[in-house]
Amino acid sequence: MSFLPIEIKKDFPIFSGSDLIYLDNAATTQKPQSVLDEVDSLYSEANANVHRALYSLGSEATERFENSRKKVAKYIGANSEKEIVFTSGTTESINLLARSIGNTLKPGDEILISEMEHHSNIVPWQMTAQRTGATLKYLSIKETGELDISNPEKYFTSNTKIVSLTHMSNVLGTINPIKKLSEKAHQVGAIMIVDGAQGASHLPVDVNELGCDFYAFSGHKMLGPTGIGVLWGKTEHLEEMDPFMGGGEMINTVTMESSTWNDIPYKFEAGTPNFAQAVGLGAAIDYLQNIGMNNIATHEQMLIKYALGKLNQIDGLRIHGSAKDRGGVISFNMDGIHPHDLAQFLNEDNIAIRVGHHCAQPLLKALGETATARMSFYIYNDESDVDKFCESLKTIKNYF
Ligand SMILES: Cc1ncc(COP(=O)(O)O)c(C=O)c1O
Repeated sequence: MSFLPIEIKKDFPIFSGSDLIYLDNAATTQKPQSVLDEVDSLYSEANANVHRALYSLGSEATERFENSRKKVAKYIGANSEKEIVFTSGTTESINLLARSIGNTLKPGDEILISEMEHHSNIVPWQMTAQRTGATLKYLSIKETGELDISNPEKYFTSNTKIVSLTHMSNVLGTINPIKKLSEKAHQVGAIMIVDGAQGASHLPVDVNELGCDFYAFSGHKMLGPTGIGVLWGKTEHLEEMDPFMGGGEMINTVTMESSTWNDIPYKFEAGTPNFAQAVGLGAAIDYLQNIGMNNIATHEQMLIKYALGKLNQIDGLRIHGSAKDRGGVISFNMDGIHPHDLAQFLNEDNIAIRVGHHCAQPLLKALGETATARMSFYIYNDESDVDKFCESLKTIKNYF
């Protein structure tokens, strides 16, 4: 392993003098001091509205904001920083697409998603289907928690206009074969959208290699601030699309009758952007790249293997999903103990996990559960966290 979680923890104020075991990284991640400092320094040293002010402070804020856009572009292998639209997060990125591209759909057109999607990649498409008369179709999942693509012609048809799938499941950890799915989408002339909320944070991502048309993700799930996210799109699509929101900065000219749009990406960034948060995301990317995304993915693979080995030894514990390609997320249920009770008891040992439906109710229904317990890892977790978690679990089990 090329980095030591115990050393990494020292960079995160939340762990200072605390025995916190934080295993809810699929929900949000903790912030290193460098990210906090970057946001703080933007506000305390260079605070002025971006793209508007002609004085030095404004230029500095703009430069730092645009520099962050360049870092994001490089991080995911985009061809140009113009392809990086800053949003408030994955949810807004997908809603932007569901409004903008979604509005071009008509009755008979099909949108293809899957049973394992987060609500933010379901609800916007349900709304699009209701608005336009398009049909929403779902790829189902197999016992293993992998997408069932054994009958592609049933799902990828000449009517399919949009395919929108998660890179990695926030419940099962399944990593989907995006490259293959992008090819299938393109074979029928559909646009391929990837929900990268759990992808960009845990895996090395190269959007050209994945072959998709759009990739959406959130800063707060990758050490960055809340309120900042990204929509990457191919230049030709972004150029063609209508904006999602109207307001300042997204226009070229405004008359009393009509308006013309600014160039990409600004056409999609109406109003004052979350520029301090964007700069913080740049610092988070620096931090992650310093460790190396391949090293992070390898670390999580090691940890997941270790955790599965230990959890499988606990009687009455059922793990959901057994995908071959999976990331650092494990969902499970314990016979006779409700997940909410489990979380409360773990909390007494200062262990934080998520329980509930994980904003994925259709998936939970497919699993035959109303709630599961979920542990999810990041760079500051190690085997000792898994050991303490399992010890605590055994004590709770004995208590019940
Ligand atoms: C797979 C997936 N997609 C989308 C989202 C939504 O992200 P956000 O709430 O940051 O917009 C999440 C958040 O948990 C997620 O795990």
